[in-house]
Amino acid sequence: MSGTWDELIQEIKSRLDIVEVVSEQVVLKKRGNTYWGLCPFHKDKNPSFAVTPHLGIYKCFSCGEAGDAIKFIMKTKNQEFKEVIVDLAEKFGLEIPKSHKADGTSSREVKEQMMKATELAAVFYNDLLLRDKTENAKSALDYLTKRGIGNDIIKKFHLGVAPKEYTVLYDELRKDFSNDILEKCGLILKSEKGGYIDRFRNRVIIPIQNENGDFVAFGARALESGQNPKYLNSSDSLIYNKSKLLYGLYTAKDSIKEEDAVILMEGYFDVISSQAHGIGNCVASCGTALTHDHVRLLSRYTKSRRIYLSFDTDSAGQKATSRGASIIKEVFEGLGDIKQFDESYLPTSDSQNDRFSCEIRVIAPPEGKDPDEFVRSVGADAYKMYVKNAPLYIDFRLNSILKQKDDYKTPQQKAQFVSTLIPVLAEIKNNIIRAEYTDMVAQALKIDSSAIKSELDGFLKSNLPKTDRIIKNVTKSNSVSQKAQKILLSVFLVPDNYFTFQELSEMMSDVTFDDEILIIVKSTIDKLICTVNNVKELIGHLYTEFIENPQAQAVLPELIQHAQAYNGLSEEEFLNVIKETINKINQCRHVEEVEHIRKIYKGINDDDPQALKIQIQLRDKIRNKVKQSEMN
Ligand code: CTP
Ligand code: MN
Repeated sequence: MSGTWDELIQEIKSRLDIVEVVSEQVVLKKRGNTYWGLCPFHKDKNPSFAVTPHLGIYKCFSCGEAGDAIKFIMKTKNQEFKEVIVDLAEKFGLEIPKSHKADGTSSREVKEQMMKATELAAVFYNDLLLRDKTENAKSALDYLTKRGIGNDIIKKFHLGVAPKEYTVLYDELRKDFSNDILEKCGLILKSEKGGYIDRFRNRVIIPIQNENGDFVAFGARALESGQNPKYLNSSDSLIYNKSKLLYGLYTAKDSIKEEDAVILMEGYFDVISSQAHGIGNCVASCGTALTHDHVRLLSRYTKSRRIYLSFDTDSAGQKATSRGASIIKEVFEGLGDIKQFDESYLPTSDSQNDRFSCEIRVIAPPEGKDPDEFVRSVGADAYKMYVKNAPLYIDFRLNSILKQKDDYKTPQQKAQFVSTLIPVLAEIKNNIIRAEYTDMVAQALKIDSSAIKSELDGFLKSNLPKTDRIIKNVTKSNSVSQKAQKILLSVFLVPDNYFTFQELSEMMSDVTFDDEILIIVKSTIDKLICTVNNVKELIGHLYTEFIENPQAQAVLPELIQHAQAYNGLSEEEFLNVIKETINKINQCRHVEEVEHIRKIYKGINDDDPQALKIQIQLRDKIRNKVKQSEMN
């Protein structure tokens, strides 16, 4: 039975898990009841992006962007509301009401057709390679055989061949798809004469699948030596975003989870050969440099975020390695230390591992081959040994610099050489580990370790990291009264409340809030509760209202956290907590006032002609106050 569009929206909202949704784009780390990560909507250095699962909301404390799971998908995927709902309905297997069924032109349907066309193209090219008896197909098979690729691998990776002729694929697919769709897929190009020709010709075809296994693009390797470019890749399209997709992930997924580690390689054939030889957990970017999105994608599959870089050992590969390591570090910045030391430096246990945001290791066999050549000529077992013994990135980096140490002999040269090592050492945050590595470097260079240390200290001082995290502001110490006031305000944020916003507001109508920020928060709540329908909305609006007031905004997570403590209370208990809190606030205020009056009383000089009069007045006031607070 199919319900209404509104019911569908409600059903979808109830099934969405904000942490799961956000984790597709942002690496999150749990702290208390909140998950933190780097904001995807602005250039974030420290994690200021908070996800609060029980309220189903996200919020960036730095740029102010906030919303629920659906808004997050709309913003990050640049989709319309309806599109998101339809996609999700499909994902959850929910029926879409007739009124909102697609008419064949929605971007979702275009995407579906594009995937279908791409898949059929892959099947067509694969068929040609395996069954066609033409010269072209034979030379492609020959070529792959020489690369150690037999029929099994061809089938597993759906490899194919694109013939030399101009319109073979087009003639096949035009029966089922419009020119527009085929052009959007990047399968055909407009020819000078006005017709269409195939984009890929005389090439080995490597179909690219997204993480769900949909066919979305192609890499195509030249078959002849003089043919340029060596690799012709599909351009980005509606269904293909190179910077967010990794080649081989679909087939590597399970193995990545199993090994709790992933190996990043450079090329299609590195992945194909390695996976074919039993190294299942490897992927590669598709003719682009590694991006932050790639790393985020991987972090969803590896719990401990162990990433191996297995690039070429030439200088381009070395550059890619250090670039890759920087990208990885940036993605995990602020979520914990990068694991920078080997077990031989400090013992680790599983619970300790949690302190690390990720682990970067480097696979660099001295044979100097790319993974494809290595597994074919030296062997998969040898490669696995290199994986097993892969040094941490920090060791790899220091050692590769230290290899050149013999070129630097004079004191001046040595000083210059040390200056290239200092920034690497400075990246180690743990003092003991940094000291260990400093000693190691000193020994290798036969330099006094304290000299390197003082250089290092100078460098660290001039490059102090900014640690002014917003999170710290949130947990500043409060007076008892302030805390009680916050607890009282938090009752507005209890999701399943026994009372309406108005009832709550009335309960505390006599309470005086004395903290400047809390006064603002209270008056904004009073204003908003006239228009919002529920707690989620109230929180969302509060965040928006306080975009220009970070101090007020910083109070909100604290209130949300207090509000959670109300969960599971009976109505009576709930009411009691409110009453007690109000009492406490009043008591605190009275005690403060009495203290204040006592101070003035003490300060009065007995010789003052007014003294007696003032003393009597003050005494009465104190008595009154004390009586009042006793009554409460
Ligand atoms: N690449 C590309 N375009 C090129 C060259 C390379 O997109 N003109 C990408 C491809 O994804 C390729 C990867 O970069 O797989 C690595 O390049 P390279 O080391 O040159 O290729 P190999 O994988 O070693 O290719 P082969 O073994 O086929 O020579
Ligand atoms: Mn190669």
